[in-house]
Amino acid sequence: MAGVAQSGTKPCLVTSICRPLRFHRGQKDFARISLYVASRDAQSGLNIGNATGIKMTITFHLNGEEVSLPDISPTTTLLDWLREDRELTGTKEGCNEGDCGACTVMVTDQSGHKALNACILFLPQLHGKSVRTVEGAAGPDGQLHPVQQAMVDLHGAQCGFCTPGFVMSMATAQANGATDHDDQLAGNLCRCTGYAPIIRAAQRAAKAEVPGWISGEKAFVVPAEDATDLRPTSSGELAAAYAARPDATLIAGATDVGLWVTKQLRDLEDVIFLDGCKDLKEISVTEDAVRFGAMVDMNRVRETLKPLHASYAEMVRRYASQQVRAAATIGGNIANGSPIGDNPPALIALGATLHLRKGDARRSLPLEEFFIDYGKQDRASGEFVEAVSFPRQPDRLRVYKISKRFDQDISAVLGAFNVTVVNGSVTAARIAFGGMAGVPKRATHVEAAVVGQAWTPETIAAAQAEFDKDFTPLTDMRASSAYRLETARGLLARYFADLNGETTHVLEMK
Ligand SMILES: Cc1cc2nc3c(=O)[nH]c(=O)nc-3n(C[C@H](O)[C@H](O)[C@H](O)COP(=O)(O)OP(=O)(O)OC[C@H]3O[C@@H](n4cnc5c(N)ncnc54)[C@H](O)[C@@H]3O)c2cc1C
Ligand code: FES
Ligand code: FES
Repeated sequence: MAGVAQSGTKPCLVTSICRPLRFHRGQKDFARISLYVASRDAQSGLNIGNATGIKMTITFHLNGEEVSLPDISPTTTLLDWLREDRELTGTKEGCNEGDCGACTVMVTDQSGHKALNACILFLPQLHGKSVRTVEGAAGPDGQLHPVQQAMVDLHGAQCGFCTPGFVMSMATAQANGATDHDDQLAGNLCRCTGYAPIIRAAQRAAKAEVPGWISGEKAFVVPAEDATDLRPTSSGELAAAYAARPDATLIAGATDVGLWVTKQLRDLEDVIFLDGCKDLKEISVTEDAVRFGAMVDMNRVRETLKPLHASYAEMVRRYASQQVRAAATIGGNIANGSPIGDNPPALIALGATLHLRKGDARRSLPLEEFFIDYGKQDRASGEFVEAVSFPRQPDRLRVYKISKRFDQDISAVLGAFNVTVVNGSVTAARIAFGGMAGVPKRATHVEAAVVGQAWTPETIAAAQAEFDKDFTPLTDMRASSAYRLETARGLLARYFADLNGETTHVLEMK
């Protein structure tokens, strides 16, 4: 069965259609056995854990019952724990990297219900929250959840491997009253049923009442003394912990760090979880500025931006999937310094300021200055991202994400344009790109070519010729250098057409 990764003795039908695995399952199992031998904790009985030395104690609800885990290894994933320790094998492992949704569970905290990928969710991220797996989707008396019943009635499953993940995504959407089913399910892959029956099931379930065992699900309040230097509850506690242990890995949503553990099999010597820092989750929208705390997740970023910068919000709709957006934070997307992160170019075009903190010292800098070189950011040891802000302004921003797939794909090129035109002349321009250099970067030559000029096709043509001076993009698996340059030039023309009221959205083009 060439190309189909094996899961135990059964063929895994999901990994074969996800993006190519960087580790074959056999290799991973071998590595896991080594980890098992190295890290098994005889007291707790936990047999998987990739952080050396540190142990944590956490408490959460699982399918309505309280679970307390003393001495867990902090980088044990929920998926591994469910399947290998708890023997709840309904939650499936497909890709183990956040792409396929086979491992989706519902997590409830004070902010509501979220569908999350258990494969890149570390156990300490669940502290004080409620988790529901597919085993807990049905009611206590065995009554099927409305989404399960609709999946049965409308033939929403064939092999069934993807079905638990779909059911939990659909149950979460149903609980939240979300009816944008295509977006809600973009992070769940099915390769044998086809999506039409599944979408029909979601539509039918949306009309049903939310079952009491789901609507009654609540996060519980963790006693204050549970706060530790591994899991601070405020930015102040985080500042103190990180200043004392600057080599610790900060873990925000773990949509990058999770893969370091599940795919690169890295041991994290020391960790600090940011999830408990409530003040880092604050959003402020005033007459003058918009400010996102570093721990604001991408679904909340999207909701905030919808009335302010619709094009940016629309781009976020295509940022990964519902599950990844519910975990990934704007601070993590900036701090990782990725040249293909989707937020930085859009924020740079908005003139964003990054707010950093080390101990009690704070400093702010223009976001573009944070990205020094590939893999190198202007962040000192023990310093962390506290927030990002940008000035309120008329909405001239357009953000164009170019990727091979519409949903759940990393950008090959992302262009963000913010040009001010007064009486037909350009008075200001901020144009930034991702995927065109080793860092998210402004197109300063292109900007200079339009500022002070008439906003005309001739100016656009002259500015297009300047892209070569700003960028020498790489050729990689996502796109060639020539394609990237040509696309960037095309996006400037698209922006011109867009501001002139022409239809340029890919879903609206006929
Ligand atoms: C399936 C999948 C699809 C994805 N699709 C996209 C996509 O479409 N677009 C895109 O841009 N990205 C995408 N990503 C990448 C990922 O979602 C982002 O980079 C994400 O924003 C990282 O945020 P996080 O909160 O998960 O960070 P984490 O993984 O927790 O951390 C990432 C890095 O930032 C550091 N860090 C986190 N918070 C802070 C802080 N406050 N201060 C200092 N350092 C900090 C961590 O130590 C780590 O080095 C995808 C990832 C997955 C798994
Ligand atoms: S196993 Fe594929 S998203 Fe988790
Ligand atoms: S993958 Fe077989 S039913 Fe979806």
